[in-house]
Amino acid sequence: MRILPSAWLAIALSLLLLSGCRADPPRIALADLDFGLADAGSGEKLFNQSNNEAPACSACHSLAGESSGIGNSLAGIAALAGGRVPGQSAEEYLYWSILRPGQYLLAGYSNLMYSRYEEGLEPADLADLIAFLLTLD
Ligand code: HEC
Repeated sequence: MRILPSAWLAIALSLLLLSGCRADPPRIALADLDFGLADAGSGEKLFNQSNNEAPACSACHSLAGESSGIGNSLAGIAALAGGRVPGQSAEEYLYWSILRPGQYLLAGYSNLMYSRYEEGLEPADLADLIAFLLTLD
């Protein structure tokens, strides 16, 4: 069977969108997040639940020390996040890690994180998720 060049293009574009290679600016700005009102308990629920086609964070990330084989363990991420990218605060690093996971790749891991979380998250949800991650020290 012969596949049209336009079909290859569509396949390549959808793979790019589904993996972490997005370069378009996020719909939710970091400045839209109100960490003063964030609720880590709601963030923990969001971490463990899938939302329509968006997989649960816990599908790829454990909170114990062991890697799932796909994503790294997020145990200790609160203490590590602020040191990952020079000039980025922990909140800022986590914001980019969730919305544009391909932008900074953790050594030893591939660009496999789902990259469309912002489509199903409100700014308050994102702030809750980040607040939860910041409890993992
Ligand atoms: C399909 C698997 C998958 C899902 C689902 C997933 N991740 Fe990831 N995540 C990864 C992989 C693989 C990496 C490492 C590669 C990279 O840096 O992007 C990663 C990296 C991260 C990092 C950076 C870790 C570090 O130590 O610096 C954070 C933070 C993170 N993910 C949070 C989340 C959150 C929060 C969710 C849910 C909203 C989520 N991930 C859903 C696979 C996944």
